[in-house]
Amino acid sequence: MSPDTFAFDFDRTPDRRTVPGEKWGRYAGRDILPMWVADMEFAAPPAVIDALHRRIDHGVLGYTDAWPGLVEAVVEGIARDHGWRIEPDWLVWLPGVVTGFNIACRAVGESGDEVFTATPVYPPFLTAPANSDRRLVRRPLVLADGRWGWDRADVEAAITPRTKLLMLCNPHNPVGRVFDRDELAWLADLAERHDLTICSDEIHCGLVLDAATPHVPIAALDERVARRTITLMAPSKTWNIPALYCAFAIIPDRELRRRYRHAMHGIVPHPNVLGMVATEAAYRDGGPWREALIDYLRGNRDLVMEAVAAMPGLTATRPEATYLAWIDCRASGIAEPAAFFEAGGVGLSDGAAFGLPGFVRLNFGCPRSQLREGLARMQRALQSSISA
Ligand SMILES: Cc1ncc(COP(=O)(O)O)c(C=O)c1O
Repeated sequence: MSPDTFAFDFDRTPDRRTVPGEKWGRYAGRDILPMWVADMEFAAPPAVIDALHRRIDHGVLGYTDAWPGLVEAVVEGIARDHGWRIEPDWLVWLPGVVTGFNIACRAVGESGDEVFTATPVYPPFLTAPANSDRRLVRRPLVLADGRWGWDRADVEAAITPRTKLLMLCNPHNPVGRVFDRDELAWLADLAERHDLTICSDEIHCGLVLDAATPHVPIAALDERVARRTITLMAPSKTWNIPALYCAFAIIPDRELRRRYRHAMHGIVPHPNVLGMVATEAAYRDGGPWREALIDYLRGNRDLVMEAVAAMPGLTATRPEATYLAWIDCRASGIAEPAAFFEAGGVGLSDGAAFGLPGFVRLNFGCPRSQLREGLARMQRALQSSISA
């Protein structure tokens, strides 16, 4: 099938049940719509698929370091899309962002030191510190006027002399916030006052849904914060190529970069060559596809907001980025909402894994017809539990 078959037509998607995969594999043979793990149903952009075909057709897939054209595409893409001019030698190539923040935990401080993060958050944030014998310190994000944000005094009080690393997720999975300049400047100031290194996971930065809330890389605020920051990015979420395993850290400070590379030695492989080929194509030529995608996701987001507002006992905050909706089910009285909706035919992510039971995360990176069906199943499950 030609890569153009599904080009820019987000209503039509390949049948994922014909290939192995985590998302659909979990519910193989059962009538449950998978709307959980964070990848989308859409085929990757034609520019990416074409580049992969060209590279595979060469036939030789030998060891390959990042090449100048790849580095240039990433450097120019970040300048164009996020207004941040990085230097090529700040880049450290990685096979994934989870690897990237686990390495950050190893590279900063020592055994027994503390790593701060705010919850709910992408589950591997919660386990990374212990992987390198660090202690996780967490405080909740707070909901005010329908928007998740920081309780600044509470965060400040959690930082101790043993806290060395602040793990930030921006744009945020699962609450969908794009933190603004004021919030980022406060976090940067906090880091400065307590001499914290910042590890900023910005994997969702290409998926900002509203022009009113642009993504600001925290390291782009000023040179002082850049010096203490490890920024993690990847093409994987935006262009839907997560299993190609290619990501990178941006570390402006030479000494921090040296420590980071040292922590990688002998255990972290290069990204694979196809991931790097796809990355170059995505950053260089993936712009029009991304714009069309964001337009489509915006429509899906609005549909989710409208549907959830009509569901008894459920509320959702409006995601400013990502294709993930974070839904509060606590007022419904349902004890295990993810299991409840799964029984109703929709596979969602359980908030408990993110550190906040009573919530579910719904992945709306799918054709609108599938989204409508999933939302209708949720509505029916709620109605039947009320009438039962
Ligand atoms: C915030 C965040 N970081 C990292 C990842 C995964 O990154 P990778 O597959 O590159 O390890 C995800 C995937 O959902 C994510 O949401």
